[in-house]
Amino acid sequence: EQERNGETVPEYLHHVARRLEEENDRVISYLDQSTQKPLISAIEKQLLGEHMTAILQKGLSTLLDENRVTELTLLYQLFSKVKGGLPVLLQFWRDYIKSFGGEVVGSPEKDKDMVQELLDFKDKMDHVAQRCFQRNETFINAMKEAFESFINKRPNKPAELIAKYVDSKLRAGNKEATEEELERILDKIMIIFRFIHGKDVFEAFYKKDLAKRLLVGKSASVDAEKSMLSKLKHECGAAFTSKLEGMFKDMELSKDIMIQFKQYMQNQSEPSNIELTVNILTMGYWPTYTPMEVHLPTEMVKLQEVFKMFYLGKHSGRKLQWQPTLGHAVLKAEFKEGKKELQVSLFQTLVLLMFNEGEEFTVEEIHTATGIEDGELRRTLQSLACGKARVLNKNPRGKDVEDGDRFNFNNDFKHKLFRIKINQIQMKETVEEQVSTTERVFQDRQYQIDAAVVRIMKMRKTLSHNLLVSELYNQLKFPVKPGDLKKRIESLIDRDYMERDKESPNQYHYVA
Ligand SMILES: *[C@@H]1O[C@H](CO)[C@@H](O)[C@H](O)[C@H]1NC(C)=O
Ligand SMILES: *[C@@H]1O[C@H](CO)[C@@H](O)[C@H](O)[C@H]1NC(C)=O
Repeated sequence: EQERNGETVPEYLHHVARRLEEENDRVISYLDQSTQKPLISAIEKQLLGEHMTAILQKGLSTLLDENRVTELTLLYQLFSKVKGGLPVLLQFWRDYIKSFGGEVVGSPEKDKDMVQELLDFKDKMDHVAQRCFQRNETFINAMKEAFESFINKRPNKPAELIAKYVDSKLRAGNKEATEEELERILDKIMIIFRFIHGKDVFEAFYKKDLAKRLLVGKSASVDAEKSMLSKLKHECGAAFTSKLEGMFKDMELSKDIMIQFKQYMQNQSEPSNIELTVNILTMGYWPTYTPMEVHLPTEMVKLQEVFKMFYLGKHSGRKLQWQPTLGHAVLKAEFKEGKKELQVSLFQTLVLLMFNEGEEFTVEEIHTATGIEDGELRRTLQSLACGKARVLNKNPRGKDVEDGDRFNFNNDFKHKLFRIKINQIQMKETVEEQVSTTERVFQDRQYQIDAAVVRIMKMRKTLSHNLLVSELYNQLKFPVKPGDLKKRIESLIDRDYMERDKESPNQYHYVA
């Protein structure tokens, strides 16, 4: 066979296939049957066997990049004829997936699209394995291993982004029209989720977003929420989802409580002109919210007191703590154009109500009056005066809220709708939220490491450092660096849970 320089890999594969066909025909027409086998395998060996690595090096990633189904099928067929052909193809296939996936996961500038790209990539590779590689189990398993390997190369972020992707799908107003479509997407997400080692990061972000969907009333469908929950339970066990289930239970109990509260209110001598809805959240099920004291108008405070009397009358000994960040309200507003209803956050409410009392206020005055924390207040003012629905005017104009800015009521506000939603900011994740969610996971991991060390040492009494570390790796369900384990062990020694052996410092003893 002469050199076939300048020929592309697809061309070469077709050429080999053609040559084999010709030889086959020739054998059938002229040659004795017994000649067939050695001849064909000589040709296979010469055309393929000696060039396998070169062919794969030169061509496999292009074939996969371009999704060349015909040539990939041919490649598999030809390689399966040559001794050692499939194992070498397998190796290149695994490497390709690791390197392509590693690019997707390892490029922070592309985080926005990471999950969608992973889903598309998984689809494409599945398709190749099914259609071109004859559903060969070894190839399918290698693909799974490769996914698991590259997705965990970058700790934590993929888990966070998967949670956010699910949130975007389960939120009201997403593009997936039908329940079936949504179901299909959630199933696919679970396949990617399965590869993730640190599922606690997923849980933390999932929980934070679920809380918002439930409390701000932005869930696309209760059925889809429940379906996702059961998928998670199936995948990770009941312990993983028990708090999430508690959140749903709280929501349902709250509905019943509100029915009773309405009846109770009808019996009150002084009916309120505000309709109050309260969700009673069990601490521990829900994300931890930083307590925030804001100044509510007197009517609201009164109503809170009424509710407190009602609730504690039924459940004495419980403690109620109001959580304003996720509160929301519908305000009746009157503009020159006419009456409107504004769907707003509680913080937006507090700001807007000030304009019943006065014409114009500075940021500082609003801050003093409402008690809303500075960063939160600036975001709130921005949403009311610089967003799409500007019910306040900012003076001077501009898209950021600066010290000394003055605000007044925008009487000329116009909108084609009667009820206008301005509380989308409640659904947005702030930088602080992202950081505190992540930090809480890391904090929790430290407790879990400590608990695992103590548990192991209590049982084993004496262990070498290496054995302890390897037991820890068996027990811990999230990625940890050896250095982190060492720090936790040091800290437990400092706190007298264990001690170093006097003679050999790599040996630890449990301290009862
Ligand atoms: C599947 O691929 C592996 C690759 O190493 C190969 O050894 C095996 O024979 C293939 N199985 C089938 C059924 O072709
Ligand atoms: C309302 O008041 C009536 C009469 O005082 C009482 O019988 C009833 O139980 C009260 N209902 C509620 C829900 O408190």
